Amino acid sequence: MASVLFSPIELRGLTLPNRITVSPMCQYSAADGNATDWHMAHLGQLALSGAGLLITEAAAVERRGRITHGCLGLYSDDNEEALRRVIEFCNRHGKTPFGVQLAHSGRKGSVHHPWIGSKALGPDEDPWETVSVTDEGYADWPAPKMADAAEMKRLTEAFVQATIRSDRLGVDLIEYHNAHGYLGNVFLSPLVNTRTDAYGGSFENRIRFPLEVFEAMRKVWPADKPMGVRIPGSDWVEEGGWSVEDAVKYSGALKEAGADYVVVSSGGVVPQQRIKVGPGYQVAFAAEVKAKTGITTMAVGMITDPHQAEEIIESGKADMVALARSFLYNPRWAWHAAETLGAPVPHYPDQYLRAKPESWPHVFPGRARK
Ligand SMILES: Cc1cc2nc3c(=O)[nH]c(=O)nc-3n(C[C@H](O)[C@H](O)[C@H](O)COP(=O)(O)O)c2cc1C
Repeated sequence: MASVLFSPIELRGLTLPNRITVSPMCQYSAADGNATDWHMAHLGQLALSGAGLLITEAAAVERRGRITHGCLGLYSDDNEEALRRVIEFCNRHGKTPFGVQLAHSGRKGSVHHPWIGSKALGPDEDPWETVSVTDEGYADWPAPKMADAAEMKRLTEAFVQATIRSDRLGVDLIEYHNAHGYLGNVFLSPLVNTRTDAYGGSFENRIRFPLEVFEAMRKVWPADKPMGVRIPGSDWVEEGGWSVEDAVKYSGALKEAGADYVVVSSGGVVPQQRIKVGPGYQVAFAAEVKAKTGITTMAVGMITDPHQAEEIIESGKADMVALARSFLYNPRWAWHAAETLGAPVPHYPDQYLRAKPESWPHVFPGRARK
């Protein structure tokens, strides 16, 4: 039977050649938001990976929306030009549609790179004032200022401007980041959003700001281009947190507002979370959202094996899968998965054709060219 993982899927005017997405992964290797040679190597190789979609790491929509000084940005002309260089390479040599994840770190910013400890930037390290749904900080990270109406207008405009920049760059798809405890997520979560105005309290009030931002972005993003949202499926606390039922309701609202897919992740909102990690540990969230709303879903989290990925799509739990660490470990994951599942192997660049199994019969005897 033909592999469903390797079947195409349409998102508005974009056809993805298969259901495998390279999930966004922060590289902490940008310079004031500008993509560097590291991005050329990192995204460049992944554009050649045969995945159906490649999405950049979280690109901050304003300078304050970075997590660290190394985070990618799309808030300046320089950022736009630096990313253009990378995208041009990816499109020239690869056949993988290119997406950008647009994000704002909210209260989880102004800190050091994770590999040097993620501690708050010191006074002589160009720290910045973070902004959040309230003035409550995350763990011992810098306390944010609470966004007032004027600030929320500015933040919305920053997302809109980054969306316009993404279109100018010829990007195929936008993923709007509402998970992992960053700005959109802290508005959604009842654990953090204790506001008493129209943007806090009830479920409708908590989704209001992230949804308004989505609508503003959708308005300036071309009608034939898809836009997805990374949403939380759980805050992973015993009581009082965001739940999969909330994810279902929010997905319904996003679908109505023109979202083409949701990718259901989780966690990162509060330090007291207890995540139950294991193979495919977030797939059930995507399945629930898909079953209840009918929106196209992407499953993510510990999807590592081709048969596992195939089963997720085949059983209808999700329409697409996103893999992160598997692609760092093995950038040729999609090529190898196609071999495993007996699917036509996706695009190899000309320079690498000699490594195709049928060109190398003494290593792959069953695959000799007829
Ligand atoms: C190095 C690294 C950086 C990440 N950065 C982002 C990011 O920028 N945006 C995001 O939404 N998720 C980010 N994630 C989460 C992944 O996209 C993914 O959801 C998570 O790693 C689970 O998938 P996996 O088990 O296939 O790695 C990151 C993960 C890793 C390992």
